[in-house]
Amino acid sequence: MYEKVWNHNKMAYGGDYNPEQWDESVWAEDMRLFKLAHIDTVTLNVFSWASLQPSEDVYDFSKLDKIMNMVRENGLKVVLATSTAHHPAWMVKKYPEILRTEFNGMRRKFGGRHNSCPNSEVYRKFAVRLADKLADRYKDYDNIIAWHISNEYGGECYCDLCEKAFQGWLKDKYQTIDELNRVWNTSFWGHTFYEWDEVVAPNMLSEHFGYEQSMFQGISIDYKRFYSDSMLDCYRIEYDAVKKHTPDIPVTTNFMEFYKILDYQKWSEYMDFISWDSYPSVDASAGKMALNHELMRGLKQGKPFILMEQTPSVTNWQPYNELKRPGVMRLWSYQAVAHGSDSVMFFQMRRSIGACEKYHSAVIDHAGHENTRVFREIAALGAELDIIGDKTLGTREKAECAIIFDWDNWWGIEYSAGPSRLMRYRDEVERYYEAFFAHNIPVDIISVKDDFSKYKVICAPILYMVKEGVDEKIRSFVNGGGKFVTTFFSGYVDEHDLVTIGGYPGKLRDIMGIWVEEIDALPEGKKNSFVWEGTTYNSELLCDLLHSEGAEVLATYEEDFYAGMPVLTKNSFGKGHAYYVATRSDAAFYKKLVGDICEDVGITGVMNTPDGVEATARYNEDKKFVFLLNHAGETREVTADDNYVDLINGHKITVGEKIILEKTDVKILEKA
Ligand code: GLA
Ligand code: ZN
Repeated sequence: MYEKVWNHNKMAYGGDYNPEQWDESVWAEDMRLFKLAHIDTVTLNVFSWASLQPSEDVYDFSKLDKIMNMVRENGLKVVLATSTAHHPAWMVKKYPEILRTEFNGMRRKFGGRHNSCPNSEVYRKFAVRLADKLADRYKDYDNIIAWHISNEYGGECYCDLCEKAFQGWLKDKYQTIDELNRVWNTSFWGHTFYEWDEVVAPNMLSEHFGYEQSMFQGISIDYKRFYSDSMLDCYRIEYDAVKKHTPDIPVTTNFMEFYKILDYQKWSEYMDFISWDSYPSVDASAGKMALNHELMRGLKQGKPFILMEQTPSVTNWQPYNELKRPGVMRLWSYQAVAHGSDSVMFFQMRRSIGACEKYHSAVIDHAGHENTRVFREIAALGAELDIIGDKTLGTREKAECAIIFDWDNWWGIEYSAGPSRLMRYRDEVERYYEAFFAHNIPVDIISVKDDFSKYKVICAPILYMVKEGVDEKIRSFVNGGGKFVTTFFSGYVDEHDLVTIGGYPGKLRDIMGIWVEEIDALPEGKKNSFVWEGTTYNSELLCDLLHSEGAEVLATYEEDFYAGMPVLTKNSFGKGHAYYVATRSDAAFYKKLVGDICEDVGITGVMNTPDGVEATARYNEDKKFVFLLNHAGETREVTADDNYVDLINGHKITVGEKIILEKTDVKILEKA
């Protein structure tokens, strides 16, 4: 259960290294600086296809050989990438079919990156061939700890090859054209298809009048599923190619937080471990950052993940690239660890001199030496990770609460024409997550396929799409004593985005003990309100007009023609309870709701901390590590709830003692 992510005896420390952009004379200096910074792992070969294969029949690994040998001689572990996220120029000239077509129908030329059509057989053939050659060539390098397929799979394509592949994908899925017409409800607006090849890719040339505005959501949702699968196929064929040579080296690709285009829950089944790149915007709350880590941790049911990239200080691609203040890089690095990362890795090792990432920070700055603030902070953190060693590797959080997140549901909600374009699925999930976060209560982000039975509390904000069997899982969860929470705009449709008739929330109606008759979408800024246990809370975005069918009414609307109608209900169902939150409210409401429900079932936070101090815990068979992270922007004090040893300085802390956390400080405490 507590297996390590990869073959490393400490948290990996390092990141993307692009020596191919530099003269060889610089490399020795890089090695010296890496040692100074306690760097032990480099990700190599992320964007080198052009130099590895300068023409169709010529492969040249001489430079990579030198780099691989140099880093091995210097004791560095390697995450070896396959370089297939950007095709070489000659390939475009000879095989223009590899280029993508954008959502607006514009055919791309050579340029940028992440620009190959995933359904081009030519692209696939060359990508697999390169992955195969790399794995064959470097299979005996025992310092390779992982394969990194491509890079941040992303972007979309609507070319003729994709359209054709979409038709094939549909045929496999639906078998008959009648079934296709049924699930897409094509009798609406005379859309009946007679032959598979009449189906077109849904974009601005066909079903769309905006990126998220589709006239046939069923078609658009299926295209999303198809496209995510197409990219996944590209990943999987490279996976197989490297596994053939190196069956024991784990394989990953680097994810990007909640990335709507790819169903990461489906992808994760084909990854040996999860890795991801964390680039929070400067105004992101600590809870929002934590939620991204939780998503990654949840993708493999709690197994630790790898923080593959983060910036040492600034990015180049945000409108304002504010510096990470002193201590913030350390704080955010440990936050990743606190939520399950077994690494701290950066993009990039040395700041490049040309093109769009030349002002993105790096371990080694343009100044070229170690006397920079950023380098000093990196070296100091590196020294700490050496001290921590292997202690926390493989440890896991223990959560009794979960929040459901589902990609199909995400697509369904945000394609929906009505009731409100202001609905953002991730934002609603975040509101519930922030409530758990505020109580330091561990929570797993799970998919509808995960096991519900191990939890005491499950929240499913806007469970709009209830796929086959999901209502049954919820029913038996609540029946068995679970506490289930769902919200407005839930239970409306099946997996084809076809409405479940007989009254909302469809298949959840008996569990929730309510009937939603109407739904009122409030314009931005317009509010209703409700009083719950003496406190008034806001109601905004959507207001369900519902009737109890057995559920206890905990609060009612205060205003408008539906004043007095239920807004918060609790239904006893079997041994458990189902809560329905009919509107969007404010943080204080969610904090109370989540806090009360958890208290009811005896769930408490990891530790009592003042505002702005986060506490998480990671465990293995016999050890517990508590992480205290001060996001408050000023000094905070925490009272120790037990006896601990500070993992970094070795100091003993006794129960009841005051632990001082300076601004941005972190403590990692091992339970004594
Ligand atoms: C991504 C990419 C990297 C680099 C960084 C810059 O995460 O994977 O190649 O472009 O962004 O922030
Ligand atoms: Zn395409």
